[in-house]
Amino acid sequence: MLYDTMIKYLRKDIYPFHMPGHKRNASMMPPDLLSLDITEIPGFDNLHNAEGVIRSAQETASAVYGADACLFSVNGSSAGIIAAICTACEICGEHRNLLMARNSHVSAFSGLVFSGARPVYIYPEETAYGLCGGIEPAHIKHMLEINPECAAVFITSPTYEGFVSDIKTIAEYVHEYGKLLIVDEAHGAHFPFYDTTPEPAIRLGADIAIISPHKTLPALSQSALTLIRGERVDVDRLKFFMRVCQTSSPSYIIMSTIDYTFQSLSRNRGVYATYARRLASARAALSELSAFRLIGEEMTGTAGIYAIDLSKMLFVALRGMSGYELERRLTREFKIQLEMSGDRFALALTSVADTCEGFERLIKGVTAVDALAANKGGETLRAPRVFLRAECRITPRQASFLPWELLGLHNSTGKISADLISAYPPGIPVLAPGELITSEIVGRLSDMGVNQIKTVKGL
Ligand SMILES: Cc1ncc(COP(=O)(O)O)c(C=O)c1O
Repeated sequence: MLYDTMIKYLRKDIYPFHMPGHKRNASMMPPDLLSLDITEIPGFDNLHNAEGVIRSAQETASAVYGADACLFSVNGSSAGIIAAICTACEICGEHRNLLMARNSHVSAFSGLVFSGARPVYIYPEETAYGLCGGIEPAHIKHMLEINPECAAVFITSPTYEGFVSDIKTIAEYVHEYGKLLIVDEAHGAHFPFYDTTPEPAIRLGADIAIISPHKTLPALSQSALTLIRGERVDVDRLKFFMRVCQTSSPSYIIMSTIDYTFQSLSRNRGVYATYARRLASARAALSELSAFRLIGEEMTGTAGIYAIDLSKMLFVALRGMSGYELERRLTREFKIQLEMSGDRFALALTSVADTCEGFERLIKGVTAVDALAANKGGETLRAPRVFLRAECRITPRQASFLPWELLGLHNSTGKISADLISAYPPGIPVLAPGELITSEIVGRLSDMGVNQIKTVKGL
């Protein structure tokens, strides 16, 4: 049934402005993927103790980002994030607090459950359009000053929407306080290949950066890298946790295509130059919309945003139509699927694998829908609040292992959540285990259609 549905969908020829970054463009992939599906036969190394060809592929990837070491993951950035949090929080023994951005992906919350760490939340700045911006370095410095027990700092840069924080200054502060900086850079795999993208976090001082080639490069789903730089990270322990978090039968298709991607893109920078030109002209063609606004460089320097990843084409809905409606119309009338949309925005994810025809479809579709929305007119759309402040009462691990009870949403105010509830994408929890359920959170969950919730029994 799944297979049939997929084939039916593919026949509709809907153009993917979403992940994976290979965009199903076969010219970007090795020709016969099935022939790459082997196991640890002699000569092919072992992911969990890499000493041969896998190790050398990891070294190639390390060199691309300027890291000292790289560990492949066939379980996405999720595995690297969980392993990095377990490694970082172990060093503080019993007092395993983690200074963590609340706009982290669900995998960081899984890392809290695995490690037992207690999060001390920091919040990104809010942009003019009600989105999560970057994290201000001064804010991190202040939080480290008043939370000296935190073992490490965990932030996401770029965000799903492409907003990059000032990693260099953040790293300086974090190291001044003797802590580790872990950057979830899952959406920044393409940074080294493109002249106008920000520098990779690992070159700017992050101790660990976790990257998903499958999101923004021509690589298969689940491909990811954990990059390490400097002496602060216990690499053996990180390797141990990477093994704990992954299958004992890692896919050679995924691992070899990571290698293929880095080798071919490093050799053939021309494809990136072509993509950069296509992207720039699509951005220029969509720069004068009326009902929507294509976000660009003008956001740099606002709301903690140090740089912008322009490969993410983020359309903010100003009037006449929501981001959801833009996405729906693009799919129905122009055969384009976006990465995600919300009331206030819609996001097209572009990559080096996008074709000229794909960009043309996007320009035509967005221009036409924008004209329609402009004609409709109406109120300027209201920006929803990004997220509410959360209060962590017990650790996510305690909340996940204690007995729970299922309550009606409206009876759950004042209880402690045993559940993680998020909209996907972007996969940032509205409510995480261990957090107090407030009436504001109940309101937000009710808007999402949630009507029951797991709470910690007796608390
Ligand atoms: C910001 C962020 N970090 C981490 C992840 C997890 O990455 P992966 O899907 O490679 O496990 C995602 C996935 O969407 C993400 O958006």
